[in-house]
Order: sequence, then C-alpha cells, then structure tokens
Amino acid sequence: MDQILVLDFGSQTAQLIARRIRDIGVYSHIVPGNIPFDEIDLSEVRGLIFSGSPFSVYEPSAPTLDPEFLNTGLPTLGICYGLQRVTHDGGGKVEKKTTREFGRSRIHYRSTHPLFDSIPENFVSWMSHGDSLDTLAPGYTLIAESENGHPAAVGCKEKNFVGIQFHPEVTHCEFGTQILTNFALKMCGARNTWNMNTYLENETEEIRRVAGNRPVLLLISGGVDSTVVGGLLLKSLPPHQVHLMYIDTGMMRKGESAQVALTLEAFGAENLYLINASSDFLPPLKGVTDPEEKRRIIGDTFIRVQEREVNNRNIRDSLLAQGTLYTDLIESGKGVGKSAHVIKSHHNVRSPLVEEKRARGDIIEPLGKLYKDEVRRLGLTLGIDPKVVGRHPFPGPGLGVRILGEVTPEKCDILREADALFIDELRARGLYDKIWQAFCVLLPVRSVGVAGDTREYGSVVALRAIVSSDGMTADVYPFEMKDLLNISSKITNMIPSVGRVTYDISSKPPATIEWE
Ligand code: XMP
Repeated sequence: MDQILVLDFGSQTAQLIARRIRDIGVYSHIVPGNIPFDEIDLSEVRGLIFSGSPFSVYEPSAPTLDPEFLNTGLPTLGICYGLQRVTHDGGGKVEKKTTREFGRSRIHYRSTHPLFDSIPENFVSWMSHGDSLDTLAPGYTLIAESENGHPAAVGCKEKNFVGIQFHPEVTHCEFGTQILTNFALKMCGARNTWNMNTYLENETEEIRRVAGNRPVLLLISGGVDSTVVGGLLLKSLPPHQVHLMYIDTGMMRKGESAQVALTLEAFGAENLYLINASSDFLPPLKGVTDPEEKRRIIGDTFIRVQEREVNNRNIRDSLLAQGTLYTDLIESGKGVGKSAHVIKSHHNVRSPLVEEKRARGDIIEPLGKLYKDEVRRLGLTLGIDPKVVGRHPFPGPGLGVRILGEVTPEKCDILREADALFIDELRARGLYDKIWQAFCVLLPVRSVGVAGDTREYGSVVALRAIVSSDGMTADVYPFEMKDLLNISSKITNMIPSVGRVTYDISSKPPATIEWE
C-alpha cells in the first residue's frame, strides 16, 4: 500500500498532518523525526514529510534529522521546522526575526511549483514560527514569500524537496487540503486507495494468514474498538475459531451486555461467553471509598476473573486479539519498528494472559493502523449498527468511578437508570452525536426534597456532558436551559429515589472528565 511517511519533530500537528493525508486517501504513518535512516523500510513510501517542532534549530536539544533522508530521491515536504532544519543543515541561515509570524499571512509567489497548482496568488496561510529563513541553503530557490517578505516556500530540484514555512494541515490555512493533495497525489504519485473497504479486505486476509487454524480469543469491553475487532474476526474466520469473552462487572451501563450479544450474534458468533461476574466485583468493594483503592480492586478482580474463565474454557493457547488503536501505539513513541507496544485498556495492564501472549508474539491487533474515527468508519463498513459504532467512551472501571464513595448494587441500579434516561433524552433531542461523552454521576450525599406533603431525603445525580477531540482537554456542552430542565424532571420523576439533579459546568482542565 502506498504511504507517506511523516517524520515528527515534536509538533503538535504531526497527527493532524497524517490525518489530512489519510483523508485524501493515502495511508500515512508517523515516526520520530530523529529516527536513524536505516531503521526505516521505504519500500511502500512514496513521499516524506518533515513536521514542525516547538524547538529552534539552535537549541542544544533540538531534534536532528539523519541527512540520508534527503538523499532518497522521494518527494519531500518540509513544514516549518522541517524546512528550517533542512536549511540549517544544508548551509543556509535560520534567524530569529523581529517580526515573528503567528496567525494569518498572505502568500505571494516568486516562481511556480507543482505544490501550488490550482492555488491562486495571495491565498491566506497559517503561520506559527519564531525563527525564519534568512539565507537559503546553496541549491535551494525561493518559491513564495509571506506578506512580511520572509521566505514562505523554498524548493530544491536536486533533492526533490519543497519546504513551506506555514501549516497547510490546520483548517485556518486556505487551500491547505489542496496543497497536501498536490503533494501526495501529484508530486508523490501516491495512489489514493486508503479507505475502509480496502482496509477491510487487507486486514481480513492478514487475520486469516496470521491465525491459520488456531483459535482466537478476544476480550470484549462493550466499547466500540473491541466490538469492531469482534466483527472483523467473525468476518475473517470461521465462527468456531473465534472466542469472545465479555465480563459483566455489575458496573456496566444499562443494556450493555444485551447489546454486545446482539451485535456479535448478528455476525454469527458461536463462542460468545457473557460472564456475569458482579458477585466477584461488588463484594470486595463493600465499604471502600478511596477512588484509587476502588480502581485497584476492580483491576485486580478483572485479571482474576479473566484468568479463571479463560482457563475454565481451555482457550489459553489461543491467539489474543486486541482493539489497540494507532494512537495507542504512536503516542507512546513506541509505534516504530520492533519496539514493544503499549497495552491499552486498564484491565489488560499487568495481566499475565496478555504478557504471556505478547512474549510469544501471539497477539493480533487489527486496528493498529487506525485512528478512532477510522475505527468508527470501519465499523459502519462492516455493517455494525451506527448506534453502537457512535457510542461515547466508557471507562474500564465503569460505574465504579461514577459512584462517589462506596459502590453498592443498589447505587449501581440507580445510576444505571439515571444514565440511561439521560442518554435516551440526548438521543431523542438529536444531541447525542454532538457530545463527545455524556453520563451521570451519583454523589455521596443525600439531599432533602418534598414529595407530596412529606419531606424526603433523596440521592443527588450530577449530569456531565463534554465536547472534546481526544479526551485530553474538554469543554462543557452548552445545553439550552429547557433541555436541562426537561432532563432533570424526567430523571426525578422516573427515579423516585433521586431528589435532585445538578449539571457539572467544569471544563478540563482544571477538572477531569470523570469525577474520580
Ligand atoms: P479523565 O477523567 O481523566 O478522563 O479526564 C479522560 C477519558 O478517559 C476515560 N477514563 C478511563 N478509561 N480507565 C479507562 O479505561 C480508567 O480508569 C479511566 N478513567 C477515565 C474517561 O471516561 C474519559 O473518556
């Protein structure tokens, strides 16, 4: 498969560059910018991109570039620091200018270049740099200037290199997509065959090749990633070869287990083990109020139950499939070459089963090349219900970290009901897909209320609804007041033990998304 390789010098937008190239239909992969040239397999690479960086080339710890990357003959695009690095290393001069360029700047051409095919003069670029090019390196020529008269695009025919000082990957840059398309399709000649249909075909073949006749075990969490892997396995292998295990901790969302069963049975699952393990999880949580202690108990119990159930079914020798995503691998800086992979979900961490499988190379990670929204697209391509594919994330410890203080079966029931009502209301109001994550939290207080003529002490539920791109930062979803009022009445009317509803209006930071 044709690919464009992004060398990441620590830029905040390296992921964005890869995303934009993928959206054009060309597979793009990120590696650390300072990676030695001989660690890279270039057989499918049709072009290189050198990313930006928070560093100046003059800082002692600035990331370096193996000069061999400029001798490949492959079309190469340097963005911001990528251009400055090449200029500095090639004998040109990079300098801090008095007029730093941040934000919009119009671009004026000084010569023509295929990178700017079909893009009019004077387009608005997006700049974000302290250093600028003062003197071009020998053999490099000026293609365009910014409105401040600084070099904005520079090329070198001999090296097949073009560098730009602005960021075509950000949405504020006019014609950014056109610039990246010109690079990937015209200059690199890469075929735009990256889509979920071809991914599905390739991955199906790969799963068949790796699995052979061996059984494959997948631990399902109820979330999107493991559900999509389940669908993929059942599409690729005879159903008797696929073993799907779902452990219900007693702290799952309402209807979660039934939904998992329904989705995977529709794919012909034969060995679907739905394990109701609430009696393993809830008793040890009795009287425990410390959040970290709760997490530890849930994690340890998960491992114990998982070991027991796998051993009971004689499927210990299976291959293990996991829903690890591209970002899980890449963000650890370990997505390259032979380095170890990170393990994603909390209950797999330290799990002897996973460690053992990894040590033997008995792991299949069929989503390892995909971003989250690509997984969602793959799920839809597979024919999984859009409602399942679009589900909000859910933490591994489940409702356990949304019941503040002691977790009891009764509190789980109250929270499950409140949460389901909240989510149903969001769906009914067409808001669910506009929100990144929404849920209810059960507070560790009772509050007074009136019901008829009597005063009652009821539970208090907090609503949380946030928008985010990756969960690292989050803004509060700005509900219309009438929506909040209606949702609040619905919850207090339908669940008599809840006497009060509040809305959490804290962004992240300083708050986290979950309350514990
Ligand atoms: P926070 O609360 O850290 O949450 O802002 C960020 C995202 O991570 C999820 N989350 C977890 N997921 N195990 C998980 O698998 C956990 O212990 C855990 N804690 C938080 C949270 O739901 C949000 O999407």
